[in-house]
Amino acid sequence: MQNFVFHNPTKLIFGENTIEIIGKEISKNSIKRVLLLYGGGSIKKNGVYDAVVKSLKENHIEFVEHSGVVPNPVLSHANEGISLCKRNNLEAILAVGGGSVIDEAKSIAAGYYLNNLWDAFERKAEIKDALPIFTILTISGTGSEMNPFAVLTNELDKKKWNIGAACLYPKVTIIDPRIQMSLPWSQTVNGGIDAISHILEYYFNSTVQEVSISVSEALIKTIVLCLDKLQVNQNNYPARANLAWAATLALNGFVGASTLGEWTAHRIEHGISAIYPEIAHGAGLAVVFPAWISYTKNTNPSQYERFAKNVWNCYSLDEALVAMKSKYSSWGAPVSLRDLNIPKEKIGEIAHNASRLGVVGNLLPLTEKEMAEILDLAY
Ligand code: NZQ
Ligand code: ZN
Repeated sequence: MQNFVFHNPTKLIFGENTIEIIGKEISKNSIKRVLLLYGGGSIKKNGVYDAVVKSLKENHIEFVEHSGVVPNPVLSHANEGISLCKRNNLEAILAVGGGSVIDEAKSIAAGYYLNNLWDAFERKAEIKDALPIFTILTISGTGSEMNPFAVLTNELDKKKWNIGAACLYPKVTIIDPRIQMSLPWSQTVNGGIDAISHILEYYFNSTVQEVSISVSEALIKTIVLCLDKLQVNQNNYPARANLAWAATLALNGFVGASTLGEWTAHRIEHGISAIYPEIAHGAGLAVVFPAWISYTKNTNPSQYERFAKNVWNCYSLDEALVAMKSKYSSWGAPVSLRDLNIPKEKIGEIAHNASRLGVVGNLLPLTEKEMAEILDLAY
């Protein structure tokens, strides 16, 4: 096993009726004025907004609202958030939403201290400081609630790129799985498939980290089981709670300790949703990941066989890929570019877009050419 450092500074508060303590948690950090960041309004329908505002008021925390974060969040809206923070002397950001809201919060938090936020995404500026970030997670999947990464789209250049810095870990995250009962089914599925994909980004090249591999298999099987249960009853609290915790563990540094990640399927997916922002990240991964597995299967055959057997209870990888895709389909997820209504002629453009950050991957480094071949398989 390779040496590693595991240091996750996010305080995670998990369970029913936990949202009401957000004001106290912010207060404990001597913060009095926050940017309240949220998306298209789901939090106003399910009571989360009211609970948050009540808690902020009770704890004498002033707030300025910045709503309208879109799924696959965009640079222009993050820049507006930075201006709001500066104009109003805000001291922290409270993100209430999913990965999109939390990622935009991290971008604003970093951008507050930069001359030009996008420079950090272009790797031209280092993120050394950020406003403190607090989050209330409303959809599980990305792991952003307990990691130091953010993904943002520069909508003019169609670049969906990422940043990462230690100062971007949220200070406090609250997860009340009950509030995810208001999710549309398709979003629950997108989140679950995203979390499975995070685990798989590490799984295939880790052969000596038995803890990570065994935990990965257990987490994937847990997520599959929870989604199956939620498909029957979306108000099943234990299934919501286990799905939420598994998704956080999938990308908070625990599974990835001592393991090189691939992040190739993610890079290709970001190329898809950069061009088609209406496509959810998890939906894109449902299409790309099985194709990537099939394309790379000869790079580390014993690990792929182990995946087939231990995760899907199959004797061969080909059989496991059929099982994986039919499970995804049974949840209503797309499993081909056709399902996403992407024409074959677009493959070249997506591969070009996805490869603009350079070669990616360890098992099989991918250039534009290989990405196009994987997308062909996904068609
Ligand atoms: O905007 P509102 O009205 O809130 O609706 C949202 C949105 O339409 C809705 N929603 C969220 N919670 C809800 C709810 N609807 C009803 N009830 C609730 N409780 O769900 C929709 C999707 O939300 P979004 O935040 O976009 O989803 P997700 O958490 O999947 O985030 C996706 C973004 O995160 C990035 C993705 O690329 C994408 O941009 N990722 C971030 C990562 C990270 N920071 O580590 C890693 C991931 O690999 C990923 O790239
Ligand atoms: Zn992801």
